[in-house]
Amino acid sequence: MSGTSLDGVDAVLAQETGDGGSTLRAAAHVALPMPEALRDELLVLNQSGGDELHRAALAANAISELYASAAARLLQDAGVAAAEVAAIGAHGQTVRHRPQAFGGTGYTLQLINGALLAEGTGIAVVCDFRSRDLAAGGQGAPLVPAFHAACFSRPHQDVAVLNVGGIANLTLLPAQGTVAGFDCGPGNLLMDLWCRRHLGSHYDAAGAWAAGGQVDRGLLDRLLAEPFFALAPPKSTGRDLFGAAWLDSRLGTAGVAPQDVMATLAEVTARAAVQAVQRHAPSTSTLLVCGGGAYNRHLMLRLADLAGADIAVASTATVGLAPDQVEALAFAWLARAHLARLYGNLPSVTGARGPRVLGALYPA
Ligand SMILES: Nc1ncnc2c1ncn2[C@@H]1O[C@H](COP(=O)(O)OP(=O)(O)OP(=O)(O)O)[C@@H](O)[C@H]1O
Ligand SMILES: [Mg+2]
Repeated sequence: MSGTSLDGVDAVLAQETGDGGSTLRAAAHVALPMPEALRDELLVLNQSGGDELHRAALAANAISELYASAAARLLQDAGVAAAEVAAIGAHGQTVRHRPQAFGGTGYTLQLINGALLAEGTGIAVVCDFRSRDLAAGGQGAPLVPAFHAACFSRPHQDVAVLNVGGIANLTLLPAQGTVAGFDCGPGNLLMDLWCRRHLGSHYDAAGAWAAGGQVDRGLLDRLLAEPFFALAPPKSTGRDLFGAAWLDSRLGTAGVAPQDVMATLAEVTARAAVQAVQRHAPSTSTLLVCGGGAYNRHLMLRLADLAGADIAVASTATVGLAPDQVEALAFAWLARAHLARLYGNLPSVTGARGPRVLGALYPA
């Protein structure tokens, strides 16, 4: 898995557990950082530019080679042979996400070269998970709710799962009824952007910088006025909306101090998520947080404060799944579904016409 934060690649070795292998556990985990040059190139490819086809093809090769290195390291660490692995579920790097746009199906584009990854590892590769759902009229995202449902549902409690990656997505798991899920707004990506710009660091470790700032009310209101937050699901988003241009156009000339902007950006992520839970699943009793944002202590405190006494906020680590392994495990789970010809999408989440087998297979 490599997500919109462009922080790196997470590889997990997934082992079947539960009844008939219905859920997975991570037997090993490797995180490789994204090389700066590749990161810069992928950021460029998020927008229209010269010689895009050529550059995208080379970037797909580069990301696939990085995935292959992560897989090799993982197997070496775990002492497992490639032949023992059924498949790699490889998400690829999203550079554009415009589902149901431009008067038709639109498109979502994850750069990956499945053939190169299969050659580089000797392992079957399942990739291109999202396009089938789009073709069936869906958003192609989020795809993780089916996995969240398998791992985190509780029989007598309404649970919500918040993945704070670059974008934040929410899965609503009622004890009774249908699973829902949607992207609820920015996760880390605006905070990361601001950190790079003002501190030169990749992210605000534990949210310490944000914690020392003051939320600017005017800026907070301008940011939360974004119509995406009020849209009814199904909905999904990406850097296409929540990028530097979005932030800069709303910063205005008010001259808010950088640290206060940071505090305000953390507040936007927290408020958008909690408001979405309160609006769409008011009887939620537990909000489980995963993704890199779960390591942002300030963000976790803001989530807990905004959620109030009725909703307990906790990292997925409290139920046995490390927050930085959940997304990668989800794509292993989707690859497993593909091999078994099981449906991977939830039409109640993506808005697709029906359930579909997701992904395309490059045999070993
Ligand atoms: N110790 C930490 N303190 C604060 N933030 C952290 C910490 N560790 C990770 N993060 C944040 O998490 C981000 C990475 O999270 P993650 O890998 O879940 O996002 P992603 O790659 O965009 O995933 P996806 O889009 O698939 O959900 C980093 O860019 C950073 O913002
Ligand atoms: Mg990541």
